[in-house]
Amino acid sequence: MLCYFYKIGLFNTRIVTSLISVQVQQNKIDLVKKNITQLLALKGSRPIVAVTAYDTVMARLADAAGVDLILVGDSVGTVQLGFDTTVPVRLEMMLHHTAAVARARVDALVVADIPFAVAHDSFSSLLNAGRELMQTAGAEAIKIEGGAQMAPKIERLTQAGIPVLGHIGLLPQNYHQLGGYRKFGLSEAEKVQLQADAEALQAAGCFALVCEMIDASLAGTIAESLKIPLIGIGSGPLCDGQILVSNDLLGFSTQKVPPFVKKYTNLADQATKALKAYVAEVHEQKFPS
Ligand code: KIV
Repeated sequence: MLCYFYKIGLFNTRIVTSLISVQVQQNKIDLVKKNITQLLALKGSRPIVAVTAYDTVMARLADAAGVDLILVGDSVGTVQLGFDTTVPVRLEMMLHHTAAVARARVDALVVADIPFAVAHDSFSSLLNAGRELMQTAGAEAIKIEGGAQMAPKIERLTQAGIPVLGHIGLLPQNYHQLGGYRKFGLSEAEKVQLQADAEALQAAGCFALVCEMIDASLAGTIAESLKIPLIGIGSGPLCDGQILVSNDLLGFSTQKVPPFVKKYTNLADQATKALKAYVAEVHEQKFPS
């Protein structure tokens, strides 16, 4: 009998111990897993680091390196899928790549891009796209290109519980309208417009903004005027954080990269060397040995 109670006691102790360990792990997850509140808290404390990823491997590598935010950008179209612009990228493609990144179960906040024109469709299409990216694919927030004119729809999304990362300055989805990529915020009119865009998106509830190819001193002024973080790409060092396309910073690309990119390594060269060595060894019957 004693032995029986002892066994129950031991069993209960094990349950309690494993419950405690689940709790400890849960607290650890709560501490390390990034959310929009933690990103907001980084403003004024240290620069936010963001990078794009389009698959599980890159998401895991970026997360292990300590990035705060992983963007499943529609740049997947140009850097991975062979399109000339981001315009042909469709929601199905974004769902596929977002799901691959979400499966990496990273600590970084996972944000998925709303592809071309979906944001300009009816509000219900936009809401459905956001819902699909979050519920089906596992994104934790969405990014929408566009300034003040997008604010009313973004406000409805944020009120519906969808965290939105805004995107001002160069909007690559407008490539055909712009006739190419260029710097923004050089003229007085553009300066005023960009400041107004940033304020309208903040008022609409965006948790942060990306500013692409904005004049560096204007980016600094906008960052200082906002309560939410301004994450720059090609917009100088005065933003609250930086974002780069992973393939660009790793030199894992067969195309020209934008002039503001710093290549931290050249994976394309290393891959070419390795692939050539493999071809030679198979031809020479050295592999398999
Ligand atoms: O699609 C993308 O990768 C982006 C970044 C360049 C910010 O929008």
